[in-house]
Amino acid sequence: MSVAFTINGVAVEAPAGSNVLDTARSYGFDVPSLCHSEAIIPYGACRLCLVEITKGGRKKTTTSCNYEVLEGIDVVTDSPEIRKHRAMVLELILAEAPDNAHIKKLAAEYGVRKSRFSRQEDAEQHRDDCILCGLCSRVCAEVVEANALAFKGRGDKRSIGPAFLEEPKECIACGACAWACPTNCIGFVEEDGLRKVVRWGRELPLEKDADGRLFAPKFQLFQFSKRAELPPDFYKKAPGAR
Ligand code: SF4
Ligand code: SF4
Ligand code: FES
Repeated sequence: MSVAFTINGVAVEAPAGSNVLDTARSYGFDVPSLCHSEAIIPYGACRLCLVEITKGGRKKTTTSCNYEVLEGIDVVTDSPEIRKHRAMVLELILAEAPDNAHIKKLAAEYGVRKSRFSRQEDAEQHRDDCILCGLCSRVCAEVVEANALAFKGRGDKRSIGPAFLEEPKECIACGACAWACPTNCIGFVEEDGLRKVVRWGRELPLEKDADGRLFAPKFQLFQFSKRAELPPDFYKKAPGAR
């Protein structure tokens, strides 16, 4: 079923159940975000995707990634008020990642070049540029289904990483979390026959294909084979492994 409404005065349609952010983007409207991926369930962590929504004559400012489309609503994705809210959100985020190029660029687009807030102290690990958006753990759980990461602690002690302060045994070193991370603070390298997910301290030996070339972690292939009920050497022999 399709839902009809307006975005910035333009009549739009979207499948029932979809969210305002994805719909706005699909119609070419630019809405910033730091914790959203179409591949996973919206979480509403960064609050950067704020828009104004008028429903039944009442207007409110709300996050668009987790707002389901509704018949007849009017959405505004940019206004002086929205820009003011986003600038405040970006100032808070900039405090957490003051040297990160992506965050600095985004903040500058909203006139924010310095933050009045100070960085929260790292509770137990290397917080560095982590803005606690949760994308890494959600991608790991919902897409990879490895469940290797989780939020820990509360308030200014909050951090994200393996459940225990040791190499996460569930991690298959697929790199999906590093790919999703908006501040690029996870680190993903291949060297010395190992694939390393730096931030989580995970190092796995790589498998060779039939031509002797390294191509994927042995543990990742083992897990994939097990999940799909394939022979243990299936990926080693597969043409796609070359
Ligand atoms: S690299 Fe490890 S922690 Fe990151 S998404 Fe893959 S399994 Fe999860
Ligand atoms: S490590 Fe990256 S993806 Fe994970 S919460 Fe921090 S900023 Fe987000
Ligand atoms: S993208 Fe909506 S809150 Fe982060």
